Amino acid sequence: MGSPSFFSRRLPPLWLLLLSPWPVWTQALPAATPSGPPGAPDCPEACVCAPGGQANCSGRALPAVPGGLRKSVRILLLDHNRVRALPPGAFVGAGALLRLDLHENGLRWVHAWAFWGLGALQQLDLSANQLEVLVPGTFVPLRALRDLSLAGNRLARLEPAALGALPLLRALNLRDNELPALARGLLAGLPALDTLRLRGNPWACGCALRPLCAWLRRHPSSAPEAETLLCVSPGRLTFSPLAALPDAAFSRCAQPLALRDLAVVYALGPASFLASLATCLGLGSLLTACRARRHRAAAAARHPLKRLPEPGSGTASPADPGSPAAGTAQA
Ligand SMILES: *[C@@H]1O[C@H](CO)[C@@H](O)[C@H](O)[C@H]1NC(C)=O
Repeated sequence: MGSPSFFSRRLPPLWLLLLSPWPVWTQALPAATPSGPPGAPDCPEACVCAPGGQANCSGRALPAVPGGLRKSVRILLLDHNRVRALPPGAFVGAGALLRLDLHENGLRWVHAWAFWGLGALQQLDLSANQLEVLVPGTFVPLRALRDLSLAGNRLARLEPAALGALPLLRALNLRDNELPALARGLLAGLPALDTLRLRGNPWACGCALRPLCAWLRRHPSSAPEAETLLCVSPGRLTFSPLAALPDAAFSRCAQPLALRDLAVVYALGPASFLASLATCLGLGSLLTACRARRHRAAAAARHPLKRLPEPGSGTASPADPGSPAAGTAQA
């Protein structure tokens, strides 16, 4: 790539700048002239690139992930921008990315395919955003991920399917969210995890917390803050340290179903199905019978009406000349 095309791409004509409706251009301006060294022609607009593949796009009020990401970008600093949403394939083209920093963007929504193609990514920082939910499959493409921060969001739930299996993940930061518990199976998909940060969540020390407590007991050195974690509910356990809850505290929680219970469930299922089927059939035939009887009664009521005027069958009317009543009237 020659430098003339490089500079013409960096510096759009003046009329374009004046007419451009996009704030991106104006935000890109300060960085545009002295942008990365000539050795980094693949630097995205609006960013400053350094040798070694670092694209510094931080603090530029960018409303979206900059376009033109190339394989030469190894580190993408996008922190302190205004990227509120990550669409599908947001980083497509940046397949060699190792580190992605998106902290403090007001990020609310991450599409399930947003991280598609980032199979080499090792470090992802999504902290200090507004995430409330992460859909299943979100982190599935990140097979090489070692360090994930979701700290300082609004997550009240984190499904195991959102994280998926991250075989190399060593550090997971979930500080300062709204998590009352961690779902069963979430930590099971993270076999390499050795640093789990959990402070600043409203832990509800009920049955749903059992998997996390069990994990903390089994990995005493992996959650450096475990001693400082306190239950915020239920009432009798408020301020109890999570790490001190013995397994006996969960003794009243339902155990996984025993074989006998399963047998009952399997027997009850078809039986109740057959019973409801029989009930429906019974009710249906009762209804049909009732309706048929009503029809018959209605038909029977209609026929006597037709026969009413036949002589001798009904009561005599005063207009009938042959009737005794007519005779007395004439007399
Ligand atoms: C990135 O750029 C910002 C401002 O342009 C600067 O303050 C910051 O130090 C840079 N970061 C790195 C890691 O070079």
